[in-house]
Amino acid sequence: MALGVNQMIDAKIDLIIRGGQVVTPTSTKKADVAIAGEIIAAVTEPGLLSSATQEIDASGRYVLPGAIDSHVHFREPGYTHKENWASGTAAAACGGATSVFEMPNTNPPTGSVEALKLKQDLAGAQAYVDYGIYGLLDENNIDSLEDLIRNGVSGFKCFMGNTFGDLPAPSDGAMLEGFEILASHGYRCTVHAENASIMARRQDRLESAGRGDPLAHLAARPAICAIEAVGRAIAFAEWTGARLHIAHKSSKDALYLIKDAKTRGVDVTVETCPHYLLMTTDDMERLGGLLRVNPPIREPGHGEALWDALHDGTIDMIATDHAPHLPEEKKGKTIWQCDCGFPGVETQMPVMLTQVNAGRLSINQYVQWSAQAPAKAWGCYPQKGVIQSGSDADIVIANLNRGGVVDNAALHSKSKITPWHGFETTASVEYTLVRGRIVVEAGHLVGAPGWGRAVRQQMPAPRPRNTDKTMRAIIDSHGVLQQ
Ligand code: DOR
Ligand code: ZN
Repeated sequence: MALGVNQMIDAKIDLIIRGGQVVTPTSTKKADVAIAGEIIAAVTEPGLLSSATQEIDASGRYVLPGAIDSHVHFREPGYTHKENWASGTAAAACGGATSVFEMPNTNPPTGSVEALKLKQDLAGAQAYVDYGIYGLLDENNIDSLEDLIRNGVSGFKCFMGNTFGDLPAPSDGAMLEGFEILASHGYRCTVHAENASIMARRQDRLESAGRGDPLAHLAARPAICAIEAVGRAIAFAEWTGARLHIAHKSSKDALYLIKDAKTRGVDVTVETCPHYLLMTTDDMERLGGLLRVNPPIREPGHGEALWDALHDGTIDMIATDHAPHLPEEKKGKTIWQCDCGFPGVETQMPVMLTQVNAGRLSINQYVQWSAQAPAKAWGCYPQKGVIQSGSDADIVIANLNRGGVVDNAALHSKSKITPWHGFETTASVEYTLVRGRIVVEAGHLVGAPGWGRAVRQQMPAPRPRNTDKTMRAIIDSHGVLQQ
């Protein structure tokens, strides 16, 4: 005789989420979600499960996979007055992000195994949510990339253009050689795609000419910087077969390059951020240095094109570039004296769900762009990024009938200054579960630091190209590097 759902799973169920609308990229269905330990044991029609020790009534709510934010800066080690792993991941949990991928422009930068281990210890002790750690790809650490892979980086970051931390952009030679190595391992490299030399020269010229107003920042970093760098990164990725991820797409201009590359089969994924979708130079004039960010907020028109690119698949996902600084660091006399970036990991979900309510995307697209696409790009799907039996119980219960007003003072980040301050949302995060544990309950942080752990990843098989022309192949074939 066939077993009923209860008989199959009841014995081990620890928690049931009842009566919510469970969302996947292709469906929204009223269902109950049973959780056993850290895993989703079943997603069933409502009412089929008996009881569990813990139950959450999600009626009238949406049950979503937690957001996977592929772009956050948590500042530790090195700049802990701006953020640390505990405050950054607390902000993530409160914003419905259950996994985050953290950037290497800390001090020391995450470009050596020693620096990686230091960061792994800090993250392991403090994190409220799961995390991946990016390794740095720069001019001087090409010989360390494989050691970083062996020691557990999630992927790599290459700063083609200057930003906070002042890490110099690698030469094209080093970048290409780095891509050759990453290609042979199937790893993905995220690029900050802005041309360093154009920006440095223009900023110098503007500063000498006495420009220090907010829009001078945009003038120093026109979209040609992104067009050139995106094109170069795609060329290197296509030649080597390295997987590429383009961070924080801000402008419409380079989208055709990405579209073409995808058509040719280049494994390139792309993120954009809520501030590029929803803010323009008009906000820059209103908010000044607070909105200084790299790449810059652009003129009206770019946001619309980015929305279109999300809808047609040219852009794959939403990330935040969570880049915390203290209020005083955002308020220099001239724009050049304002640190670049602002926090975002906590506001992304309420802001974007507000767009769902406004009809700019469906709740299913939201789940695809915030959870499924990043999980796939970073090799953790279907363990993460979806609500289905067997996946990690990384779940958000969101209320799309109750919003609020974003408030600097309510942020869990140490950086209590956001351009979204005063923004009226129509949706809120009520519960966040990370691997089955309730980390946010009724909007309050209740989790424990140290619960978060490193995301396990399995990237698809490497597909290196032009392997006979890599530095290693050339040198090895002449016996120079025989060990
Ligand atoms: O504005 C930015 N700030 N852009 C980045 O890419 C880095 C970030 C930071 O680390 O502050
Ligand atoms: Zn960033």
